[in-house]
Parts: sequence; structure tokens; C-alpha cells
Amino acid sequence: MCGIVGYVGNRQAFPILIEGLEKLEYRGYDSAGVCILKPGIAYGQTGSFEIVKSEGRVSRLKALAAEKDTSGTCGIAHTRWATHGDPCTANAHPHVSMSGSLAIVHNGIIENYQIIKEQLQKRGYVFMSETDTEVLVQLIDYYYKSNGHELVDAVRRALSRCFGAYAIAVVERENPGHIVVARKASPLVVGIGADTDEFFIASDATPMIEYTHSVVYLDDEQIADVRPGKDIFLTNLGGDKATVTVHEVDVDISMLSKGGYPHFMLKEIFEQPDCLRDCMRGRVILGDKEEDNRIVLSALNQCHDRLVNAKNIIIVACGTSWHAGLIGKQLIEQLCRRRVEVEYASEFRYRNPVIEADDVVIAISQSGETADTLAAIELAKQAGALVFGIVNVVGSSIARESDTGIYIHVGPELGVASTKAFTGQVAVLVMLALALGLELGTLDKKEYCRTITELAAIPDKMKKTLQTNDYIKDLAKIYTYASNSLYLGRGYNYPVALEGALKLKEISYIHAEGYPAAEMKHGPIALVDANMPIVFLATHHQLYQKIISNMREVLARNGRILAIVTEGDDEVKKIARDTIEVPPTLAMLAPLLSVLPLQMLAYHIAVLKGLDVDMPRNLAKSVTVE
Ligand code: F6R
Repeated sequence: MCGIVGYVGNRQAFPILIEGLEKLEYRGYDSAGVCILKPGIAYGQTGSFEIVKSEGRVSRLKALAAEKDTSGTCGIAHTRWATHGDPCTANAHPHVSMSGSLAIVHNGIIENYQIIKEQLQKRGYVFMSETDTEVLVQLIDYYYKSNGHELVDAVRRALSRCFGAYAIAVVERENPGHIVVARKASPLVVGIGADTDEFFIASDATPMIEYTHSVVYLDDEQIADVRPGKDIFLTNLGGDKATVTVHEVDVDISMLSKGGYPHFMLKEIFEQPDCLRDCMRGRVILGDKEEDNRIVLSALNQCHDRLVNAKNIIIVACGTSWHAGLIGKQLIEQLCRRRVEVEYASEFRYRNPVIEADDVVIAISQSGETADTLAAIELAKQAGALVFGIVNVVGSSIARESDTGIYIHVGPELGVASTKAFTGQVAVLVMLALALGLELGTLDKKEYCRTITELAAIPDKMKKTLQTNDYIKDLAKIYTYASNSLYLGRGYNYPVALEGALKLKEISYIHAEGYPAAEMKHGPIALVDANMPIVFLATHHQLYQKIISNMREVLARNGRILAIVTEGDDEVKKIARDTIEVPPTLAMLAPLLSVLPLQMLAYHIAVLKGLDVDMPRNLAKSVTVE
């Protein structure tokens, strides 16, 4: 939520900032803004800020900025997902302190901003926006004026008074050659240019990959002063010096472009066969004979005893990752015979849940930054449980807070609607359940080996499933009319029904509900009429005949059925108006295939409705506020 970019060095800052914002726009797109520092003309003269802000997208900001002098080698920029106040220009970042000395961009929420605002108002501070961010910059300004313009110290004193979450970048007019950044519970990365002669700031590493792969991830409550030609000066909120650890990020720049696709979402849907191969590389090992197949997960060795001895497993996640968690529950229960709960992280964190010290808490998150999931992890740690992260973004907060875990390695996911991360999460959960099941002796070796063979075949079967794209595109024309729809599935396909409904809702704005198919007759069936599309997941697995009975119940009420079926299925075709085929596979692997048509369907309906698929209204990719 909200994207921050900063640059200080010897290049022109503006193009770097704008391109960075474009790459971070998935984090929020209500408004955007940039501040370029202009040095004083003569030596010793105070510089100035050139600030451009606009409502809406970065493209609008770019057009506005074309009329301004945006030259300069230091600046900060922001793309906003509104929390406090409307998405109008006045509330857009950067915000400048009343004295005009400081400018700030901020991601997160200062929870006690109202009380600080009132205190500052009593001291004569006047506010031009409704944001908590303006309160923060005024508070920093207050300390800055009282401490002889020591920016790092002023930032530290101000942040010590704030509750909530923040990632900030602050610049000062009188000293235009550096940027001060800090974070707590919101991500912030500093990229180091060659010979430390330039620095890049961003909410994640994507905007800086073009320039550097050497990055420093700030930890909670750390403040960094970045100044070209000098090492990063890193301290904590208490003022103690902290160690700077440089990481090398391994992201290929081509992963950040649409690669010829009209939208990131479509590209990411089509990348899934390759993503799964990447996810399984070095982990799914096929032997010359099936009995030599193996799963290799280093995370399992790291915490072997705790994983094997865990009585309860609790999965915490939000949204699509929670749907993957529901599949994980079934996998672990089936293959490992361990009790598994799946919790919305947002509920878990406030519910005083029962967590034992010998429990394992699995946190699933694409971004690795979801505030509620992070808070759930904190709770698990307090209880002494082992935290096992299943994360996509390398070096993200959840990855760093976890005791151990598995990266899904599906590459950057930039479309706001999650697609390839979901299948990557499910694949990791399959591998984990298989490896753990074998270790526990709850899974027969033959079944283990056979499932690995099937898992390894999934990327090719995904490729085949994706060939239905043109057919689905045509089909989508019929379904754009709908204002409501139901998605029904059972067993492993029930979470897929939830995920399909979520995809439709979030990008096409059509109301959709996912249900276990048998639940339909306990209420939702009242909604069924000839205008109501009902999507059934009816692949050839356990409960297939029961699904068919559920379909007949819908048919008897004139419902319009679209069914996802296994190749060669004739029975469902007699009942459903439309069918989409997926290749046969094992029940536990079915979600990896059956979700693809639902992703494509949602995509094409949204495109046909002329909607912005990659940036649906009101959403943001990384939910760093609770
Ligand atoms: C839906 C979607 C969201 C996320 C949720 C959790 O397409 O992307 O529901 O799954 O916000 O995000 P992560 O996985 O980053 O924790």
C-alpha cells in the first residue's frame, strides 16, 4: 500500500523516480507526487523544492510535470493508496512542513496522528491536508527547528512518539544532497549504486534492479541517512548504530515488463507453467525409476524435529493466500495426519487464539508484507511456536520474521489480482505435505513417488490448459452481462471456487460467491434463476457424482451452468451449458489446473467490460495497513 521511491546521486532524479513509481503503481494508484531538490544557486544558499502532485495515475503526474523544471539529482516520490482523506491533490504526497524546510513521503498509518496534530496546532502549526503524513512531517519539523537542524535526530525523536506503521523518506531544503529514511512494519529498501556514489530508495527492490542489485533491507525502527560518497549511516530508534547488511537481489529485469502481453495479469497467468518449474527446481527430483523420486526441502532439515513433533499446525494468511492455505490444510491432514487450522490473519491476531509452544504456524504471503499476517506471526513468536513462511518476495518482512520457510520463487507478481503466486503457494504446500508425510510415516512411499511424478507433469498440463484461452475469451462475452454469480466446488476444488469468485469480484466488479457445492441447498440456491451464472468445479475426482447431483439441482431451477471438467468428460457436458476442459490429474493437484480457467475467465470479462485489469479500483497489491 503506497509506493515510495527516492534517488540521490549524480543522475537526473526525475526519470528514475517516475519509472520507479510506474513499477510500484500496483501498490496504490489514487494519487501520485514527486519532489525534486533544487540546490541553491550560490554556495551556502538554501535550495528549494519543485513539487508536482496529481490525483490518479502516475501517467497524469508525468504529463503535469512536463510543464515544470524537474531537473535535479535528488528527489523523492510517492504513489498513494488513500487511508486518511480523499484521494485528492491536497492529500497526495510529498507533504511539506509549514516552514518549508522538509518534504516527506510515507507509507503506513500513524495511529496517534490526531492527538499529535492537536498538540502541534496548539503550537501554531497549520495543516493543509487531512493526512497523518503531514502531521508526521510537521512533528519532524518541530524537532528539527529545536535541535539545530539535525535531520536524523529530528526524525528519530518524532518517530519515537508515533504508534503504527511507517516507511518514510525525508529530504531537507537546506541540505539537498541526502535522504533520510526509516521504517516500521512497512517495507523499505535502499539500493547502493556503484562505489556508493548514488542511492536508490523504494518500497521494494523492483524500481532499482535496472541500476543495482546490491540492496539493504531496513529492519523495523531503523533510520538510515543516505548520502552519496558515504557509507549508509544506520541507527535504531534509540540512536545506537546498527550493522548494514548488503544483500544481492536476483531479479531479471525482463520480469518487470509486460513482455508483449496487454496486461501483467495475462502475462502472469501465462507464466505459470514456467513459474511452477522454477518453484520446483531443485526441490522435485525425479529419479531414473519412479521409486527414486524425491522432494528436497532444506527448510525441513533446518527445523526437522519441531516440524515432525508439531501436534497442531496453524496456517495464517489473507485473501488469495488464505485460499491456498485451505488447500494446504487438506494436503497436510491427508498426507501427514496432523490437525491443521486455517485462519484469517486479521481475525487470528485479535482473537486471543490458543497457540502452544510446540505448534507450527505457517504464514503464507505473496508480498511478505501483509500487516495482518505479520501481526499474526508476532503472536505466534510470543507463544514460542515455530514460524514457517511461504513467501514470494525475497527478503520481505515475513520472510525475515519467519524462523524458516520456503520461497515460492515465481518471480515478481505485478498484476494486483494474484494468479501465479496462488499456484506457487499450492505447489509449495504439496511439496511440504509430501516431504513431511514421508518423514512422519503417514504417507506410503509408493504414493509419495507417484504423486511426485504427477506434480512434475503439472507445468505441461498447465500449458495445455492455457490453450483454452481463446475459447474462454469467447465464452466471456456471454458472461459479462452477469451482476451476480456462484462458484461451487468440493474437496480440493472448494478453495478454488473461493479463489475463482474472488478473481471475478476484484477485477470485473461482478458480485461472486464461492461455496462448497453441497452448501448450496442450505441457502444460496434461492438465488438461482435463468440469469445467474453458476460455475461448477466438476473435475473427475472424489465427490464427482455428488457434484453432478448438485448440478442437476441447479438445472432444475434453470440456472446457467459453466463447468470446469476433466478432458473427455461426457456426463457433465449433458448438464452444463458450457464446459472448459482441464487435463486429468490427482485430486490433490487439481487446484493447480482448475484455477487457470477461472483466472482467464475473470480476466477476459474484465477486459470486455473495459476495466483496468492490473489496477482494479480501491485495491492495492501489498496490504501494509490492517
Ligand atoms: C487477491 C489478492 C489478495 C492477496 C492478499 C494477501 O487477488 O491478491 O487477496 O492475496 O491481500 O496478500 P499477500 O499474499 O501478499 O499476503
